[in-house]
Amino acid sequence: MSIGIDDISFYTSNFYLDLKSLADVQNIEADKYYQGIGQERMGIVGADEDVVTMAAAAALPLFERSNKASIDTLLFATETGIDQSKAAGVFVHGLLGLPSRCRVVELKQACYSATAALQMACAIVAREPGRKVLVLASDIARYDLASSGEATQGCGAVAILVGANPKLVEIHPQSGRYTEDVMDFWRPNYRATALVDGKYSTKIYLKALKQAYLDYLEQGGTGFDQLDHLCYHLPFSRMAEKAQTQLARCSGSTRDPVARAAMIAPSLHYNRTIGNSYTASIYIGLTSLLDHATEDLSGKKIGFFSYGSGCVAEFFSGSVVAGYREYLHTQRHQTMLKARTELSYTQYLKFYNFECPADGGDHRMPEQTTGPYRLASIDQHKRIYCAR
Ligand code: HMG
Repeated sequence: MSIGIDDISFYTSNFYLDLKSLADVQNIEADKYYQGIGQERMGIVGADEDVVTMAAAAALPLFERSNKASIDTLLFATETGIDQSKAAGVFVHGLLGLPSRCRVVELKQACYSATAALQMACAIVAREPGRKVLVLASDIARYDLASSGEATQGCGAVAILVGANPKLVEIHPQSGRYTEDVMDFWRPNYRATALVDGKYSTKIYLKALKQAYLDYLEQGGTGFDQLDHLCYHLPFSRMAEKAQTQLARCSGSTRDPVARAAMIAPSLHYNRTIGNSYTASIYIGLTSLLDHATEDLSGKKIGFFSYGSGCVAEFFSGSVVAGYREYLHTQRHQTMLKARTELSYTQYLKFYNFECPADGGDHRMPEQTTGPYRLASIDQHKRIYCAR
């Protein structure tokens, strides 16, 4: 019996800022962003969107071919939590009408926790192969205005259905891990924006990649030159290029730079126009690979590197299942991205500066999202969601 990804779908907000608009205001060349960090646009959430509405929207298409009753567990990965106590996944459970005989929990470790959720989901299915686990990863990346991280903001959610004999990607049992207590990126509870030591964070990312990969090899994993594609955590798409160079170096790869670039190119399209979606980013990268690869990926091996600042990292792999193309949501993903509205820099500032009311009154949220779910109001500190 194999275990892995039976279905996958992502969602992002219908608003974005082109990084040229940011570069113009900063009086720098847009190519610093387009080429230097490899990003074109960043997704911006409306006032009536959050990690719950995005995650529910990502998950909705999965139930076109899967029965809600089979969902045994919902694991919600995020670092943009909306409550210190209640798991965001419980709101999603309600919006989607999932069975009451289902456990729901929220997981946190920066951008890494969706991978912990995926591995836990595989373990749950191994124990009870008839069950399915819904893994949701949803985040909004926010940095201070005029900080080095500002251009790497973004938002998105991904929904992954994990089950036995999956239709898309079998996850291999080998995995390599790396944890080190560092302060490269963090967000104290009293702050709405993250703090980051940008250059240091990229160095730690590459160190963790090497260490997790070496552990993966020791566990019997597949060497770099035997992998067909790589999906990396994507804070910005140039990071994947740096990671490829690092992995080629520490594996003694004989592949030339063009072949190495081709291993990652299809996985970068979506993230380039969404920005960092933290926990969701590596798996939005996977949907990008599945949706954009021109060759048939059946039987191809994919390496995954998941990184969460702080830091925890994991390297693992999977194989694409024959016939996977029949089950993709490519058209929906591409239509959603084409239908987005561009914000001017002034509009972006207005969205950025919107503050969720926190005084306990009854507040209706401005109607902005075009997604299937919205945050309708915050009343007596309670978040009220509805279908749109
Ligand atoms: P910066 O100071 O804005 O940019 O910081 P820079 O001056 O280093 O330039 C970036 C690149 O653009 C350079 O290339 C320049 O040469 C090039 P590189 O040296 O990297 O090869 N450049 C140009 N290229 C073409 N035309 C031009 C031009 N000008 C410059 N005109 C930094 C960049 C990544 C530090 C910043 O964006 C940042 O702080 N980002 C946030 C932190 C981050 O994303 N870290 C990534 C690793 S940590 C991680 O992935 C975890 C995270 O997702 C959080 C979590 O786990 O929860 C962040």
